[in-house]
Amino acid sequence: MKFLKFQPAIAYSTKMVYNNIGLILLNANLKRGTSMEKRFIYADNAATTAVSEKVLEAMLPYMTKQFGNPSSIYKLGRDAEKTLNDSREKIAAALNCSPAEIYFTSGGSEADNWAIRSAAIRLGEKGKKHIITTNFEHHAVLHTCEFLEKQGFEVTYLPVDENGLITPQQVKDAIRDDTAIVTIMYANNEIGTILPIKEIGAVCREKGVLFHTDAVQAVGHVPIDVKDQNIDLLSCSGHKIHAQKGIGFLYVRRGIPMVNLIFGGAQERGKRAGTENVPAIVGLGEAVRLACENIPEKAAEISARRDRLINELTKIPACRLNGDRQNRLCGNVNISFLGVEGESLLLLLDQFGICASSGSACTSGSLDPSHVLLALGLPHEVAHGSMRLSISEETSDEDVEYIIETVPKIVERLRGMSPLWENIISGKPGADKSLKFVSPIK
Ligand SMILES: Cc1ncc(COP(=O)(O)O)c(C=O)c1O
Repeated sequence: MKFLKFQPAIAYSTKMVYNNIGLILLNANLKRGTSMEKRFIYADNAATTAVSEKVLEAMLPYMTKQFGNPSSIYKLGRDAEKTLNDSREKIAAALNCSPAEIYFTSGGSEADNWAIRSAAIRLGEKGKKHIITTNFEHHAVLHTCEFLEKQGFEVTYLPVDENGLITPQQVKDAIRDDTAIVTIMYANNEIGTILPIKEIGAVCREKGVLFHTDAVQAVGHVPIDVKDQNIDLLSCSGHKIHAQKGIGFLYVRRGIPMVNLIFGGAQERGKRAGTENVPAIVGLGEAVRLACENIPEKAAEISARRDRLINELTKIPACRLNGDRQNRLCGNVNISFLGVEGESLLLLLDQFGICASSGSACTSGSLDPSHVLLALGLPHEVAHGSMRLSISEETSDEDVEYIIETVPKIVERLRGMSPLWENIISGKPGADKSLKFVSPIK
């Protein structure tokens, strides 16, 4: 067979074949060769999490009996207002800030948009029309920056290295007199790398530039102290830490001028109007409190399971662990398998009861390879074969063993059907250019 250059169209047709007939046959064959009982394993906690029982318990009264509007002056309303304040206090205690510095939002995307656009509008008026970010941020940040570019701002996209890290020196070198804000994520949602936030914050402080961090994947997984870490603005999303979807917050250091996000009533100190979603806010406060308790102990347990997964799964030939080995979220495993189409891998994992992801939840469904994996310098054909597992406290040792038994079989079978893989192992000219990015074939 002639070597085929990997293209989205080919990926798509390959996917269709897998989906329609291949997967059914493959699935039946694979199941015959599996010794373990089928399980249900949710290994996609970076995409979203279930509302925990404790969080739901805290929320329920505010959906029924305690339904007051926090702006009402009678007791039912005053109780609701007190509840909002309690929630702000729990979050402030977890981050080491003041409750007045917490603004509730609909989630991480809104918090990111608000932080960056606010700084751009306020400081743009003073001639500061430069923004610094990285090339592997979440789209909530990247698309906001792209929008601002169209409004006349200049954006520097710092390139991450092949392990998904940037250095404080890169930030220092990029800061200019007209820099309005530096926005750099705390931890990456796809490859799990944790960035040197405290040091980047120190560089920004020294240079008098605002520093925002998208901490959606970090809250509850790494200890955060906004004062000690020199953070001016921080975004968080509830549904990643067992609160419900559609709630989050933005931390804004006292004194930083914010533009109004929604005009109307006086909620959120007049900056974001609209009657507050009291049950969701109660749940968020409780979720943050629970998630930020005993982080080092919980992280040690989860990372031991993550390491077993990484050690075993990277024994599969021609694969690559994406993201730094050390500076990594405790639950993140991201591996590319050469000659495998990521979506097919996920569909088969699903047949085995394993929920995983091939990239950001928000972009899956698109045929473009992940911008995060491309930012690492990976060729398209390596980036396309990626699998992200994001495990949690609820992932057991048995779950880990089941994944370790299942993934290699699926990879082997998919490679058996892959023209790309056939070309690589038969040494077709040009077909091996991806090999320098992956572990040896044999
Ligand atoms: C790093 C990061 N930032 C922002 C978001 C968006 O958060 P939300 O879904 O709450 O809008 C996500 C969600 O996947 C994320 O992972």
